[in-house]
Amino acid sequence: MAPVLTIVVANLKGGSTKTTTAAFVSHALAEAGLSVLAVDADGENESLLSWSEAGEWSIPVIGMPVTDLYRKLPGVVGDRYDAVVIDTPPMKERRGVVASAIRIATHVLVPMAPTGMEYARIPAIRELVDDAGALAADPPELAVVLTRTVSNAASTEVYRQMLTDDGVHVLGPTVGRLERFAQAFGLPITNAATTAYGDIAAELLGVTAQ
Ligand SMILES: Nc1ncnc2c1ncn2[C@@H]1O[C@H](COP(=O)(O)OP(=O)(O)OP(=O)(O)O)[C@@H](O)[C@H]1O
Ligand SMILES: [Mg+2]
Repeated sequence: MAPVLTIVVANLKGGSTKTTTAAFVSHALAEAGLSVLAVDADGENESLLSWSEAGEWSIPVIGMPVTDLYRKLPGVVGDRYDAVVIDTPPMKERRGVVASAIRIATHVLVPMAPTGMEYARIPAIRELVDDAGALAADPPELAVVLTRTVSNAASTEVYRQMLTDDGVHVLGPTVGRLERFAQAFGLPITNAATTAYGDIAAELLGVTAQ
């Protein structure tokens, strides 16, 4: 059976917490009992691959920074994994790779800080998801996750409302601007399910909070 979830983590530009999001979501899904494969499609940086090696992850991570990823990956995944999480390079630089991943995605997860600059990138992301999704057997669902939020700041709800008004699905849980995430690179990841990423994984799995 094909994986129940194929999550492509994507954004227009670098530094938008794609890799951190891919790392924690894949661990949260694994902690929920799923068999997870993580894919590093960012050939330039290979951040997810190097993080997994330095942090001695138990989750397998493979590198596949190619524009025919949508053709290659399913053969590698086979029926061995319940979930696949794909970290991507910035869309602006490697549009072909990101578009290819989106063709096999069930979800395109877009981490976004609640700022005007990041909000301004959303139309270009939607356009790519629409274009690439049109080539997919089953078009993916685009979901924004608000990251680097500051507790009690009005911006979180302001941008959630603006996105919702634009017809963009925003996940309920938000990821705070926290040292835990800022310093996580290169380390093992434990208890991802107890962070906001656990709630995000549950929402993507369609599990309703009790
Ligand atoms: N919730 C958070 N709070 C604070 N810092 C964070 C958070 N999430 C990620 N960071 C930090 O933000 C920086 C960018 O994150 P990350 O490398 O995940 O982004 P990226 O989109 O993958 O970037 P690139 O396109 O360069 O690969 C990193 O230094 C990371 O540690
Ligand atoms: Mg990255």
